[in-house]
Amino acid sequence: MSTAIPIRPRRLRQSAAMRRLVSETRVHASQLVLPMFVHDGPDDGDDRPVSSMPGVVQHSLDSLRRAAAEAAEAGLGGLMLFGVPAHRDATGTGATDPAGILNRATAAVTAEVGDAVVVSTDLCLDEFTDHGHCGVLDAHGSVDNDATLVRYAEMALAQADAGSVLLGLSGMMDGQVMAVREALDGAGRTDVATLAYAAKYASAFYGPFREAVDSQLQGDRRSYQLDPANAREGVREAALDVAEGADIVMVKPALPYLDVLHQVADASPVPVWAYQVSGEYAMIEAAAANGWIAREAAITESVTSIVRAGADAVLTYWALEIAEWSSR
Ligand code: PBG
Repeated sequence: MSTAIPIRPRRLRQSAAMRRLVSETRVHASQLVLPMFVHDGPDDGDDRPVSSMPGVVQHSLDSLRRAAAEAAEAGLGGLMLFGVPAHRDATGTGATDPAGILNRATAAVTAEVGDAVVVSTDLCLDEFTDHGHCGVLDAHGSVDNDATLVRYAEMALAQADAGSVLLGLSGMMDGQVMAVREALDGAGRTDVATLAYAAKYASAFYGPFREAVDSQLQGDRRSYQLDPANAREGVREAALDVAEGADIVMVKPALPYLDVLHQVADASPVPVWAYQVSGEYAMIEAAAANGWIAREAAITESVTSIVRAGADAVLTYWALEIAEWSSR
């Protein structure tokens, strides 16, 4: 006896088929980008597990190539490559050396997959510097913004030469999008696109990534990455990057910053992506390994929420697995 309730939203939740049909948000393989690490050991060497990210490895070059082919086969939207060099120095020369691990890996992967999947590269110095910062340092040990832009411009050309079609500008230097765009256009590489990590926060959730790339960082990145307290500043950073010519802007991390993501998505004239970072991955994996959380459901819910908040595409270490689930 409940005729006094004419509006009953539960009607649309009554079966799995009905829920599927009325779902507002669908996550598709084509909007997932897989971040991948490649170490500088023997090309046919072993993969090196990343202990804080169970299931994630530093690939050897050969295994990276095979994994990239598998990702293309699964219909993923893209790959984001990170190099883990064996040698580092103050200016990160390995980043601009065509024989440096990231550039070699990019060439190998593009030779393998062609344009079946978008091959993109991390454009930042932190993996290549012996101090672990995202830029070069001045005489006082601070990150020198404008001197870093010169290195980023060189890095952009090296990555474009290696075959990267989408450069992931993750260093958070002022003017980085403009500097890279000018360098590319000046070299006739108007075809190479930029993905600006526009609102990248100084986050504790990058912890496991720093193990994944053997980061040498002492201290923190708070003089260049955003303060987690600031949403308006994130929106402003995205607008600036669009004005500088960014083809895509990104918010990072993802789940703790859904409000920023939503605001950027509301305002942006270009695609907006989000990066579900290493700590977001590690938390769910650790809880699931302890039997404290339902792994697949938690992963699905987290990525669905990121898309619902406004992400057009998501960088996630689970990209391949989610693609498999969504195709069944
Ligand atoms: C910088 C970079 C970082 C991440 C992606 N690009 C690390 C940092 O800013 O310290 C973090 C990604 C993750 O945590 O999954 N090259």
